Formats: sequence, structure tokens, C-alpha cells
Amino acid sequence: MTASPLAPGWLRHPEDINALSPGLWACDVARGAAGELEISGIGVSALAAEFGTPLFVVSEADFRARARAFKDAFDAAFADLCGGVDVYYAGKAFLCTEVARWVRDEGLRLDTCSGGEMAVAARAGLDGALLGLHGNNKSDAELVRALDLNLGRIVVDSLAELRRLSALAAARGQEANVVLRLTPGVHASTHEFIATAHEDQKFGLSMAADTGGDDGASGAGGSAAEEAVDLALKLDGIRLLGVHCHIGSQIFEPEGFALAARRLLGFLAGVRDRHGVELTELDLGGGYGIAYTEADTPRPPAEIADALAAVVREAAAEHGLAVPRISIEPGRAIVGPSTFTLYRTGTVKTVRTEAPDGTAAARRYVSVDGGMSDNARPVLYDADYSAVLASRASEDDAVMSRVVGKHCESGDIVVRDVYLPADVAGGDLLAVPGTGAYCWALSSNYNWIARPPVVAVRDGAARLIVRGETEDDLLARDVMS
Ligand SMILES: Cc1ncc(COP(=O)(O)O)c(C=O)c1O
Repeated sequence: MTASPLAPGWLRHPEDINALSPGLWACDVARGAAGELEISGIGVSALAAEFGTPLFVVSEADFRARARAFKDAFDAAFADLCGGVDVYYAGKAFLCTEVARWVRDEGLRLDTCSGGEMAVAARAGLDGALLGLHGNNKSDAELVRALDLNLGRIVVDSLAELRRLSALAAARGQEANVVLRLTPGVHASTHEFIATAHEDQKFGLSMAADTGGDDGASGAGGSAAEEAVDLALKLDGIRLLGVHCHIGSQIFEPEGFALAARRLLGFLAGVRDRHGVELTELDLGGGYGIAYTEADTPRPPAEIADALAAVVREAAAEHGLAVPRISIEPGRAIVGPSTFTLYRTGTVKTVRTEAPDGTAAARRYVSVDGGMSDNARPVLYDADYSAVLASRASEDDAVMSRVVGKHCESGDIVVRDVYLPADVAGGDLLAVPGTGAYCWALSSNYNWIARPPVVAVRDGAARLIVRGETEDDLLARDVMS
């Protein structure tokens, strides 16, 4: 069989339509003897029968292994520089009480960014000292909750927030642990990064010299970041620990992280020169890329950790600084590949169309029982995914297919381009790997569709960790007078 003229350049015509692309699946996913997809020995048909579809299926072993791999790799790379690294799992990627406990058990901390995420962490029994709080527009209630929980760190995003937090903490006779989020002028995405002097985004305190913007800086010529440090060192109720940056997401190469680390260490040297104070914490954020399709080739954590440690060592020495305690905030790279979404197929239809080269082509649409309400990333970011026929193996030819959802939007695409067996029909099960991050977390009730459950699988047993919504859940919020 030849490749479809509709296939994008990166998509290979599969030699074996039943093969699982290495790197896309959790460590305990494989095809069983009968050809069905299994996780830790449990067939997907049994999962679908017990929990229904769509269904998020998380491998606990895979999640824990990836969490440990980050912690071990960064600890090893930075051991002689600062004694190790604090790894904050970014809960925004996917959070529930069970996951919060896995994170704690594996020696990680938890990055939250809302009152709700702090509530989940507290319910899971995590000590506030292990938590961080992010957000460009934290409410007073969220700051008070952070103070109630005695949070390990609050990542302050603006001068106005710094003043509000100072007033709230001082009124309680408390000192808030503060890290300042800076914008270092480095933006990275996948294989490229760009470095700029000025930032045009809502997050953080600019490191660029003040140019009169209304970011709360006084206009005296220094940057908002410098002014925030000056203020934080003076204000009551604030214990300034260090600085933070986050340069983007789905990043494969270490150069962008390295440049940001250099800029932040230079900034810390400036703080020392102005104030005689060496701040002790430097957070380099998250954004480590994963494989969504066979075209993605992420680097192992150790490679990134070693590259960053070399830069931090060099830049700290250049500035005569003691290496601060380093932290990172990976989300997607821990939970993303641990999970697949299981869908039941419905309508299958083929339409005539024209390929980019002008030739006549056919595209097969395979509809599933979920869609943009359980995975908004294809719509939001044009994200690519991959899929396999999961309930059985097939000996049929590979057909260029588009997996679509059941929502009332023609853009409701789950997998834009994928080869699936020609005999895929209504009632089959499809599995989409790499859906652990920013899928359930971004899910919605569009078209009054209930959010799916999440099941964790470990040692041959599956258990519900997030219950799916029912129609009663949906109707309970509709106020009828
Ligand atoms: C401040 C911050 N830290 C960490 C993350 C996690 O990023 P990722 O899941 O890509 O690692 C994000 C994601 O947006 C973020 O905004």
C-alpha cells in the first residue's frame, strides 16, 4: 500500500498497523496475545465494560516512574552544586487527590495555581510546605488560603500583588514565603526559542528597563523586576526567597532553559550588588516536551538536567555567586505519556476531497463518543495526536483517517491525521495515547456532555480516581424556578 496524498510529511505509512509506536505509550501498555490493547494485563474491553467510554486510563507505575526520573536526574546533575533540586509537579496538567499523593510519595512537591488546586492538595493531606502557588490574578481569598496553609512559596506575579500579599500577611503577623516570577525575554516552543528584550504577555515582572508601561514600576528607569525586589526586601510580611521563570511549553532542546537560567543568575548578581543580599532560590519552570506522535523525539530528563547544571555552574562562577537552590516545574512530561483515552467508535464515513497536490483523495472520518469536551488541545493549539484500534488487532490495510468527536463543531477533531485499519467500524474501541496532560484538566460540558471518569491501573487492578459526571450532576446545577 502507498502513502495517502493527504498524509502530512511527518506521518509514515505504517509497516504494521497493529504496532504501538515506542515512546507514545505508558510502560505497561502492550497488545495481548489476542491482539487487544492491555494495560498492566487488563484488556481495554474489560475497562470499557466496567467504567464506560470515553475513559481516561492512567498508568500509576508510569506516572511514578516519570516523576522519579525527573527527581533523580536533576538531583544527580545538581548534587555538587546545590545539594539537589526541588521538583514541583505542575498540577494544572492533571490533578486529583490520588495524583497529589503519588507526587508526595515520589519525593516531589506540588505547584498549584488556584484555590481549587490548593483545596485538592489539602484534601490529599499534603503539607503546605510542599506547595507552591502561581497565578497572574490571585484573589485575596486565594492568598489568604495560601497563608492559612503556610505555603512553601507564593510565586508573586506583579507589584500590586506583592503589596496586597504584604498587607494580608502583616495583618496576620505572618511572613509569606515569596518567589518573584520574572519574564527573562526568552520564549521557547519545541525546537526553537526566541530571545527578546521586552515581553508582551500577562505573566510576570519584566526584567527590561522600565519604558513607562503601566506595570506598576515607578518609571525611575529600573525594571519592574528590580523594583519588585527593592520593595519585597522592605515590605512587612514578605520573606523573599528568590526568582522564577517559565519560558514556554512542549520544549525539546535545552538552549532556551539555559539562556533563561543565565539571565536570572545575572539578575541575582545584580540584587547582590545593589542590596548585599544573595537570594537563595531559582526556579526554572516547566515546559519539557513529550511525544504525541512518532515525529516527536523528546530528550531524557538527564540530558536536560546535565545541560542546565553546566550552565548554572558556569554562570554562578562568572558572577561569583553561590549556586542557589534550583527548582523546576514539569507537568506534561510526568503525566502526559502515562495516560491514554479510550473511546468507542460510532459513525464511520468517507468523503471525497482534494489533496494539497491537487489530486483527488478520500478522507475517512471515524467518529468517537467524546471529542473537544475531553480533549480541547487539537482545537486550542492545533495539537497532533495519534490513535490505534484497541479492542482487537486487524490484518486489514492502513487507511488515512481523521478521528473526530461528537460535538456540534466541524473543528471537533481528536486526531487530525492517522492511519487506521480499513475494517474499523462502529462499536470498536480506539485508544489515543499521551492524553494525561491538559486534557481532563481542560475538559468542559460543551453540548451538555458529562466529563469522563479517570481510572488508575496498577499491578493488574483498575480503580476509579475521578468519578465521571452523570446527567444528574449536570442537571443539579441548572436552577429551575
Ligand atoms: C508557571 C508554570 N510552571 C509550570 C508549567 C508546566 O508546564 P508543562 O506542563 O509544559 O511542564 C506551566 C504550564 O503552563 C506554567 O505556567
